[in-house]
Amino acid sequence: MSDGRVRPMQSDELDAVTAMMQSLWPAAGDYDFSDERVFVWEERDQGLGGFISFSIRPWAEGCESTPVPYIEGLWVAPHLRKSGVATRLVAAVEEWCVQNGYRELGSDVEIGNETSLKMHASLGFEPTLRLQFFRKILALGLRDRDVTRRRGARGEDREE
Ligand SMILES: CC(C)(COP(=O)(O)OP(=O)(O)OC[C@H]1O[C@@H](n2cnc3c(N)ncnc32)[C@H](O)[C@@H]1OP(=O)(O)O)[C@@H](O)C(=O)NCCC(=O)NCCS
Repeated sequence: MSDGRVRPMQSDELDAVTAMMQSLWPAAGDYDFSDERVFVWEERDQGLGGFISFSIRPWAEGCESTPVPYIEGLWVAPHLRKSGVATRLVAAVEEWCVQNGYRELGSDVEIGNETSLKMHASLGFEPTLRLQFFRKILALGLRDRDVTRRRGARGEDREE
C-alpha cells in the first residue's frame, strides 16, 4: 500500500487537479469540473498522486436509481499504480454516497481500457450496457442557413 491518504480537494489545489485531469484527458483542454466533487490522493510529504471526481447525474444508463452518483474521472500517478490507491479513492466515494443516502454508483470505461475494466470488476462494479457513441460534423448549422436565406430574399442585413 502506498503511504498517503484520501481527502477532499482543497480550493487552492485547482491547478494541481486540473493538471492530473489533463493527464487523463489530454484533449479536454480546460475541463470544467465545478459541478463535480473531487477527492485526491495525498502522498506523505509530497504532492498529489491521484484523484477521483464524481457528479450526481439526473439519471445514468444502466443504473436504476435517480438521481445517481457517477464517477466522471479517476487517475493515479504512474509511480503509484498497483498499490491500492484507486481502491482507496473509489472507497471514499462509496462512503460519501452511502452517507448521503445513495445506494448505487455508476461509472464507465472505454472498451479498450483493459486495466480499468479489470479494476472495476475487482472493485465490485457489474457491467451493464455497452454503447457506441457517434458524432457528425455539421458544415453549416440549420439556424445559420435560415438567416442566410432570409437575408438573401429580402436584401436586409438583420437577423430575426
Ligand atoms: C485504472 C487506474 C486508476 C487503477 O489505479 P491503481 O491505483 O493502480 O489501482 P489499484 O492498485 O487500486 O488496483 C485495483 C484493482 O485494479 C486491477 N488493476 C489495477 N492495475 C492493473 C493492471 N495494470 N493490470 C491488471 N489489473 C489491474 C486489479 O484487479 C486491482 O486489484 P488487485 O490489486 O486486488 O488485483 C490506473 O491504472 C490509472 O490511473 N490508469 C490511467 C487512467 C485510467 O485509465 N483511468 C480510469 C478511467 S475509467
